Amino acid sequence: MILISGTGSGMTAVLEACERGDLAADVVGVLADRPCRGLEVASEHGVPAAVTRLADFSTRHEWNQALTKKVRAYAPDLVLLAGFMRVLAPEFVDAFPGRLLNVHPSLLPAFPGARAVRDALEAGVKVTGTTVHLVDHEVDHGPILFQEPVPTRPNDTEESLHERIKEAEHRLLVDACRALLGGDVVVKGRVASVMSGGER
Ligand code: GAR
Repeated sequence: MILISGTGSGMTAVLEACERGDLAADVVGVLADRPCRGLEVASEHGVPAAVTRLADFSTRHEWNQALTKKVRAYAPDLVLLAGFMRVLAPEFVDAFPGRLLNVHPSLLPAFPGARAVRDALEAGVKVTGTTVHLVDHEVDHGPILFQEPVPTRPNDTEESLHERIKEAEHRLLVDACRALLGGDVVVKGRVASVMSGGER
C-alpha cells in the first residue's frame, strides 16, 4: 500500500520493480491526500487509487481516522509513504507498527520537513542525500533502514538536485521494501539493522 501527494515517481519505481519481478510484492492500493499525477499513474498500472482530502473533513482527527480505516481495509503488509506530504497522527502510526516506511530527500536527521532539498542548498552543504526509515511519532524521524549520499554541484537548482536525489531514492525504496517484507529488519530501540540471510 502506497501513500502519495505528487508525481509519484517513488511509487512508480516500486510498482515497476514488482512488475519486473525484482520485488516479490503486489501494490494493493494507492491513496493520496489530494488529486495528483501519481494517482493517474497508479490507475495506468491497474492499481486501485483514491483520494482522501483533508478539506473534506471537519477536523484533522476525522481525516486521520478515515485514512487509517481505508488503509487498514487493505490489510497491507507494508505501508509506504512515498512523497506523502501530510503529518500523520500517532493513531495512524500505531496502527501499522514496524510496517510504516517513509522516504525523505535528505540525510536525516539533517533537514527534516517539507523543504529539505531547498534547505540543504541554502545551507551550502556539499553532500546531501536520501533516507528511508521506519516512521515514529515525530516528523521525518524513526529508525533508519537505508541512506545514500548525493553530492551537491555548484550550479544545482532545487530541481536538478532533487532529480538526482530521486534516482537514489528509487533504488533505496525497492531495497527497503524488500528488506522489510523479507523479515530482514531488526529494530532495537532507535536503531534498525538490515540483516543478510546468514546473520539472522
Ligand atoms: C520525494 O523526493 C520524497 O523523498 C519527498 O517527496 C518527494 C516525492 O516525489 N518526501 C518528503 O519530502 C517527505 N518529507 P515523487 O512524488 O516524485 O515520488
